[in-house]
Amino acid sequence: MTIKDIITVPDETLKKISEPIEKIGINEKKLIKDLVDTMYDSNGIGLAAVQVGILKRILVIDVSAKDEKKNPMSFINPVIKKFSNETSIYEEGCLSIPETFIEIERPKTCEVEYIDINGDQKILKCDGLLSTCLQHEINHLDGKLIIDYLSKLKRDLIIKKVLKSKKNLSRIIV
Ligand code: NI
Repeated sequence: MTIKDIITVPDETLKKISEPIEKIGINEKKLIKDLVDTMYDSNGIGLAAVQVGILKRILVIDVSAKDEKKNPMSFINPVIKKFSNETSIYEEGCLSIPETFIEIERPKTCEVEYIDINGDQKILKCDGLLSTCLQHEINHLDGKLIIDYLSKLKRDLIIKKVLKSKKNLSRIIV
């Protein structure tokens, strides 16, 4: 089990566009496993490879409830083919922007085309939390974060706050 470090804002890597995967080999399968382990370790429901500093179009999601059996899903080269006109609003957090929650309106349902861990092309209809989580994670692959839905002023304030709390983390009094 490998828990990777999750990068946080304002790391410039988070703004970069991830590259498509051409072949699913040992390295990609190991990366998926590490992403799942890292996601569970940080109590997230989704994680994109870019968040551990790897610019590949891979993401993992588990939207199962706490009292349910774990259900990790992995998506390679995911592309959303259809969006609904109907929208829904969730208060979203992000492991790369600690302690920040932002209300974001997104299409309520979507249809995603992706490659699974065995290399098979799949299509999945998503609704509710899965739909929102998937759209959030695919935004990561395109270098877009939830703070990019806000004004520059609000965005800068959040980044300042994250930097400040990081500094506090290494401060100890003995
Ligand atoms: Ni995120």
